[in-house]
Amino acid sequence: MNENKTVYSALKPTGDLQLGNYIGALNNMVKLQEENDCIYTVADMHSITVDCVPQDLRRRTYDFMALFLAIGLDPDKSILFVQSHVPQHAELAWVLNCYTQFGEARRMTQFKDKSAKNPENVNVGLFAYPTLMAADILLYQADRVPIGKDQKQHLELARTIAERFNNRYSPTFVVPEGIFNTHGAKIQNLLDPSSKMGKTDDNQQGVVFLLDDEDTIMRKFKRAVTDCGSEIVARADKPGISNLLTIYSVMSGHTVKEAEKHFQGASYASFKEEVGQAVVAKLAPIQAVYKQLIADKSTLEKVMKEGAQKASYLANKTLSKVYRKVGFVQPK
Ligand code: TYM
Repeated sequence: MNENKTVYSALKPTGDLQLGNYIGALNNMVKLQEENDCIYTVADMHSITVDCVPQDLRRRTYDFMALFLAIGLDPDKSILFVQSHVPQHAELAWVLNCYTQFGEARRMTQFKDKSAKNPENVNVGLFAYPTLMAADILLYQADRVPIGKDQKQHLELARTIAERFNNRYSPTFVVPEGIFNTHGAKIQNLLDPSSKMGKTDDNQQGVVFLLDDEDTIMRKFKRAVTDCGSEIVARADKPGISNLLTIYSVMSGHTVKEAEKHFQGASYASFKEEVGQAVVAKLAPIQAVYKQLIADKSTLEKVMKEGAQKASYLANKTLSKVYRKVGFVQPK
C-alpha cells in the first residue's frame, strides 16, 4: 500500500529567489521529497498579476528551475514543471472563481497590500490570485503544502473553497494542510526586522538573494540591524537577533538553542560575521551547480517538459471530475 502523501508547492518568479524562500519553503520541499509524492511548480502565471518585464520573467523561469535542481529537488523523485505549461491550472481556476465570494477574495491581506503599493495596476488577476493558487493545489489532490507564514491565509481560502465544493457536490478535492517551520516560517528583512524579507522589497540591501556572491552576502550581514543590549538570544523583544539566529540555525543545521549557547559572550559584530559565513558555506555549492545548469538550457527544458507531461496527466483526472460535477458535457 502506498502511504505516501501528496505534497504541492510553488514559487513565483517575480523577483530573484531569496533566503526567506529557501528557509520558509525550499528547504522543506527538499526534505519532503524523500518520503512523499511531491509536485513543485515555477508559478509564472502568478507573476503577471504585477508589472513584469517579459525577458526578466523568461530568465527567472529558467533560473528558478536551475535553482530547484541545484538545491536538491530531483526530477526522478518529484514532478517539477512550469505552471503555464499545464493549462489545467487556468481552467480549474476559472471554475473555482465561481465558487469563491467577492468578499472572501477582498479580505486577502496580500491583495490589500499589493493594491495599496501599486494603485495604478489593481488588475482582476491580482484579485483572483488566490483562486489560481487554490487551483494549483487542488488539481493534484495535495495533502500537504509547505509554505511560509505569508501564504497561510491563501491556503485557508483554498481549504474553504475545497470544502464548499465537496459539500455542494460530493467529495472531489482533498482538503490540504499547510506545513510551516517552527522557526523560519517568516524571515525578516535584515535592515528592517519588523518586515518580511521579500524578492521585490524596496530595501534590497536587507535581502539576501540565493545567487548573491560572497562579498555581497558578507556585506549584507555586517550591516544587519541588531537590537539593544548585547545578549544573543531568540526573544520577542529582540527581533533582529532572533531573525539572525533562525537564519544561522537553518543554514548551519544547529538548533536555535545550540546556536544561543555557541554565541554566548560573542560580540554582535562577530556573531553577524559568523551568520554570514554559514550562509556563504551553504549557498556556495548550490551556486556552483546552478552555474553549470543555467549554461545547459536543453537539460532544463527536458526537465520542464517531462514534468509538465506528468503533471498534466494528474491534473486532467481532477479537472474532468470537476467539469462533470458542475454539469459540463464532456466532448465525445
Ligand atoms: P512566493 O513566490 O512569494 O514565495 C515562495 C515561498 O517562500 C515563502 N517565503 C518566505 N518564507 C519565510 N520567510 C520569508 N521572508 C518568505 N518569503 C517568501 C512563501 O511563503 C512561499 O512558500 N503565492 C505563492 C506561490 C504559489 C503557491 C501556490 C504556493 C502559487 N501557487 C500553491 C503554494 C501552493 C507565492 O507568491 O510565494
